[in-house]
Amino acid sequence: MEVKRRSARVVTFGCQMNERDSETIMGILSSLGFEESPSVDDADIIIFVTCCVRENAENRAFGNLGETKRLKERNPHLVVGMCGCMAQRSDLREKVQARMPWVDLVFGTHNIHRLPELLQRVFSGERVIEVWDEPCEVVEGLPAMRAYSHKAFVNITYGCDNFCTYCIVPYVRGRERSRTMEDVVAEVGNLAKSGCVEVTLLGQNVNSYGRGLPPRPSGVSPDFADLLYEVNSVEGIERIRFTTSHPRDFTDKMVEAAGSCDKVCEHFHLPLQSGSDRVLDMMHRGYTAEKYLGLVHRIRDVIPGASITTDIMVGFPGETEADFQATMDMVRQARFDAAFTFIYSPRPGTVAAEMPNQVKDDVKHDRIYRLIDLVNSTAGEVNDELRGAIREVMVEGPSERDTSVLSGRTRTNKMVHWTASKEHKPGDLVRVRILEPRTWTLYGEEVMSGGELDV
Ligand code: SAH
Ligand code: SF4
Ligand code: F3S
Repeated sequence: MEVKRRSARVVTFGCQMNERDSETIMGILSSLGFEESPSVDDADIIIFVTCCVRENAENRAFGNLGETKRLKERNPHLVVGMCGCMAQRSDLREKVQARMPWVDLVFGTHNIHRLPELLQRVFSGERVIEVWDEPCEVVEGLPAMRAYSHKAFVNITYGCDNFCTYCIVPYVRGRERSRTMEDVVAEVGNLAKSGCVEVTLLGQNVNSYGRGLPPRPSGVSPDFADLLYEVNSVEGIERIRFTTSHPRDFTDKMVEAAGSCDKVCEHFHLPLQSGSDRVLDMMHRGYTAEKYLGLVHRIRDVIPGASITTDIMVGFPGETEADFQATMDMVRQARFDAAFTFIYSPRPGTVAAEMPNQVKDDVKHDRIYRLIDLVNSTAGEVNDELRGAIREVMVEGPSERDTSVLSGRTRTNKMVHWTASKEHKPGDLVRVRILEPRTWTLYGEEVMSGGELDV
């Protein structure tokens, strides 16, 4: 009789940190003999890697956890686990503990490396809830099952020390810790050897990389610019990306480094949050609208053609129509290539959640619609300037909607679709002439040879 191998499904919510953590979790499960299951329906273990940055992220995770009750009734041997940022919050963890008795395992963002032991205890019949309030030293050398072979996320810092007043991340991800340059470069080198051509360096604030690391022979700790030069020298890597940048900590030295490292892509994700100095101050962001715009101009001067994307929030406590108009003004002036827009969501335990003058839901909704309209029309205008241009595009694979169409990204991180005239595999670099730019996607044709390549 054929013995069925045990299978596991990791379901991820939230940001790239979680995506990367999920690769580690799947790596650990694989080393324990589990294979990846294509869906939750026939998995023997399901682990939810959760996010609590906004209330709707929490609701989605609770909804998904709720549905596993039915799966568990069908398959009593199923193990259901929950980890990630929600698990770090004692109120949410207790809710799961009390109301979802079918959840067998809860662990946090700081003790992923303990998963083998925790699972052993679950298999011997125990309900295991183990969350650490504080992180330990950075743990290196954990296995990872990477989601892609041509591109990879590489952590450079963990946690965040900024305590923006609206944000839960510092509470659930702990104090900021940097990995050593040697560890980062070694990981990138190993990825390159296994065929990876694009790395995205990950941190909540990549620009503060290196704080607290031992000084180099020069007497100072390495910074993000130093790291970019090192990663740029890794053979085999074609593209280097990073996220997220904090406008307050983005120094001229870092702009220079990004400009002089040939592999560093011309794309900067610079979360603005608000265009009003009053609101920025209440948020604790540490920059003014003018300073932000100065950075945008500096980047565009040093790196012509750079794309700049952002995160913007509406409805922060006390935000007036005038504050909101200042945000709209910034969108017009900065001419963002794209923006993620959010409605402020009060997070229990943060300073802003306790502030008076919480903005009413209908006002928040009205503002977000106006903001989205403006962001879309600006992005449409910016993209329209690409009509006729030829760009280097990294192949991602067939497009989701039509498999005869290939999909890929420019160095400026714009999604491109083109009809495949030739077979390509993910990670190949091709030249595409942009024929029809739209707000979110550029449509084009592959250019076989010749043609000026402008960025
Ligand atoms: N470290 C990054 C991103 C953190 S979370 C940074 O500093 O930008 C990603 C985005 O979610 C933030 O940029 C912010 O725009 C949004 N966000 C964070 N907390 C939020 C909240 N309480 N309500 C709504 N949006 C929020
Ligand atoms: Fe949150 Fe601010 Fe840290 Fe970003 S920098 S994770 S928004 S506290
Ligand atoms: Fe969410 Fe945690 Fe990322 S709260 S945004 S998954 S760091």
